[in-house]
Amino acid sequence: MASKSKTLWFCSNCGNESPKWMGRCPACGEWNTMVEAPVESKKAASPSKARSDDRRPRRLADIDYSSEARISLGMKELDRLLGGGMVRGSLILIGGEPGIGKSTLSLQIPLSCPSLKTLYVTGEESEKQVKMRAERLSAGRDSAGDCLIYSETRIEDVLEQARAILPDLMIVDSVQTMFTDAVESTPGSVSQIKEVAASLLRFAKESGVPVVLIGHITKDGYIAGPKILEHIVDVVLQFEGENRGSYRILRSIKNRFGSTSELAVFEMTGLGLREVENPSEMLIPMHEEGLSGTAIASMLDGTRPLLFEVQALVSSAAYGTAQRSATGFDGRRLNMLLAVLEKRAGFHLSAKDVFLNMAGGLKVSDPACDLAVIAAVLSSNFDYALPGDCCFAGEVGLSGEIRPVGQTDRRISEAARLGFKKIFVSSYSSIDSKTPSGIRVVKVSDVPELVKGLFK
Ligand code: TYD
Ligand code: MG
Repeated sequence: MASKSKTLWFCSNCGNESPKWMGRCPACGEWNTMVEAPVESKKAASPSKARSDDRRPRRLADIDYSSEARISLGMKELDRLLGGGMVRGSLILIGGEPGIGKSTLSLQIPLSCPSLKTLYVTGEESEKQVKMRAERLSAGRDSAGDCLIYSETRIEDVLEQARAILPDLMIVDSVQTMFTDAVESTPGSVSQIKEVAASLLRFAKESGVPVVLIGHITKDGYIAGPKILEHIVDVVLQFEGENRGSYRILRSIKNRFGSTSELAVFEMTGLGLREVENPSEMLIPMHEEGLSGTAIASMLDGTRPLLFEVQALVSSAAYGTAQRSATGFDGRRLNMLLAVLEKRAGFHLSAKDVFLNMAGGLKVSDPACDLAVIAAVLSSNFDYALPGDCCFAGEVGLSGEIRPVGQTDRRISEAARLGFKKIFVSSYSSIDSKTPSGIRVVKVSDVPELVKGLFK
């Protein structure tokens, strides 16, 4: 191979490498994401070192994991999201758009857990700015405990300090501001981000110090997106929803030590982020009953059922072609559900504009929400309000059949606990446990039957 320095192209969305520029990344299919980065000549691989006994392959039965004790972060919901606290030596990425609350959340960890010796590395804000924020977050209480603030962006210096201090927890804000001498490109470029994350991972594994890494996500994804980091880190927590309202949703997308797709809801207050322990109560309507176009859906968040409001607006198309828009829900799935309503139940929606919205900026992928989407669309179409005490859990198939969804029992008990009187489920659901008192389970087998049940 020629020894002259050469460059490679990286996809800034998924990190895929390519020897030449391409308009579309063949790995993730995104357009215009290829960025150029110089290739650094690798140091010759060192011959395998004489390894000490504990670095040899070991029998599974002999491995002791009792030392994998988890560190509690003093925030109940955050601990739950991580699968019961933070595992020693793990690398955790907190991603989200700028201004959504990543720095606030990570500074709240040492403040709510003063016994933890924390090293907070800030590349974005000065020490004074961090101090001011901490003052506000702790509202004058002296709770800073053993938290060390280090304003530095060169990762070699950061790691040198970290090795000397050996904190219980290290927080790095943010990966885009850090740089390493090992790579020549500018901070925030794909190769810098990969290298910085890899050296933090090595540090975490060698020292056993858990590291929380903050990463910005830009909407256009041009600056290295989170996907590159997703493969490197152990846990990815991502803030979702818009940051206009006061609620913030933090979701676990990847977790090597716990279940994924769990979510925690926080409220941004003057004193920082407050955990919302009962998110269903915040996601179900705050308005008077009697509004058409809303229905309550049951979604599984990891293992916990969550109830939230689906809103639809159906109106005659103002221009020639009807508009369809879905926020927090897959647009193609909405089109499919509208086609089912048209073809299997005879509703003429093709000349109507349909807008769909999930409450609280939630992004929904549980197919169990189909039934509520259909109910909300029909309710808006007829301008007929659904009773406020009924909710829905069922998937809709292409032939208009209502299919059963996972954990129907738990969805029913959660609905009953929140005071719902009626829940619509598929008639093919197998329900093992006794129906809790106070709620009626209405079984429907297809869309026409649902319509009968709702609007008879
Ligand atoms: P921040 O944590 O700085 O966002 P990120 O690190 O993700 O870019 O959050 C900034 C927003 O939060 C900012 O708009 C101000 C608001 N905020 C509050 O409302 N209350 C608070 O106590 C704090 C610290 C921030
Ligand atoms: Mg920040």
